[in-house]
Amino acid sequence: PVVAVVFGGRSAEHAVSCATAASVLEAIDRDRFDVLPVGITPTGRWVLMADDPEPLRLTAARTPQVEGEREVIITPDPDHHELMVREPGDAPRELSQVDVVFPLLHGPFGEDGTLQGMLELSDTRYVGSGVAASAVMMDKHLMKVVFRAAGLPVGPYVLITDKEWRRDPSACLEPVAALGWPVFVKPARAGSSVGVSRVTGPDELRDAVEYARQFDPKVLIEGAVVGREVECGILEGRGSNPPRASKIGEITVATGEHTFYDFEAKYLDGSAALTCPADLPDETAAQIQDLSVKAFDAAGCEGLARVDWFYGPDGTLTLNEINTMPGFTPASMYPHVWAASGLSYAELITELIELALE
Ligand code: DAL
Ligand code: MG
Repeated sequence: PVVAVVFGGRSAEHAVSCATAASVLEAIDRDRFDVLPVGITPTGRWVLMADDPEPLRLTAARTPQVEGEREVIITPDPDHHELMVREPGDAPRELSQVDVVFPLLHGPFGEDGTLQGMLELSDTRYVGSGVAASAVMMDKHLMKVVFRAAGLPVGPYVLITDKEWRRDPSACLEPVAALGWPVFVKPARAGSSVGVSRVTGPDELRDAVEYARQFDPKVLIEGAVVGREVECGILEGRGSNPPRASKIGEITVATGEHTFYDFEAKYLDGSAALTCPADLPDETAAQIQDLSVKAFDAAGCEGLARVDWFYGPDGTLTLNEINTMPGFTPASMYPHVWAASGLSYAELITELIELALE
């Protein structure tokens, strides 16, 4: 099958998506799949990329970015799924029939149902969740509404919409004190901790909201949840089988440099350690797996997701979030927990593509 691997994109996680793509291009089974690497520039142009992971890697010294002149067009004709390519100044020519798109995109305009909607319109198969689950799970507020309705444990938060903030910032911040300190101020629709601040008192709150608003006018302020950060990978079942849950992974961030699992700790300075399986009582690990599958189903996810939890010292579990297209970078938990569960990186990629082709 021909797999269009799509990456980059318009969100603030552009570079993370490139890093994810680097890992996937490296690991994907070439005997099985013909790969078409398609980049989306930060301004939204689709371009044909070299099939080379090297320039896409993310390091402290280099932030990768999609650039290119050869424009890619997906035909919206449901019967063809053709990828056309246009050289500068030339008429488009057919590049290939595409059997499946692997949208390795994080954040808005990729992980949020917009790209999925475009692929639905053209009847193109794709890896991962559909329009509704992608859109709702991209939004940290709507996500909590769905989880709460499903009886899943979510933490306390205050929502600030764009209109409310523009009308009266003080009124927006008034209920925050009840959350206790610190709080985390987050753009509602972003990822990789982009735009997130940890705030320890009322004085820094306004600036933190303004900062988050640079990424999304909808902002969430979450009460801090005390606990270990543990994550579970979910892979959809074949046929009518239920979703599969990976072993549980744990993140520990070296204190001193970072007060939370922020962008630097996630990708750049190696201060976050991933452990899998996490040292947990068997019943707790089983409970996290069970609840993660419940969250996946409640959200209507397809294909894959990573479900992130806080495990409190008193044994309480709090659902932090679901990521419908988790990172696949060398520092990312999703491929790590599956490797620890017996599925290699290459096997995982194959399984995801085959699920989409099922
Ligand atoms: N949003 C990043 C890519 C993740 O959840 O892994
Ligand atoms: Mg996220």
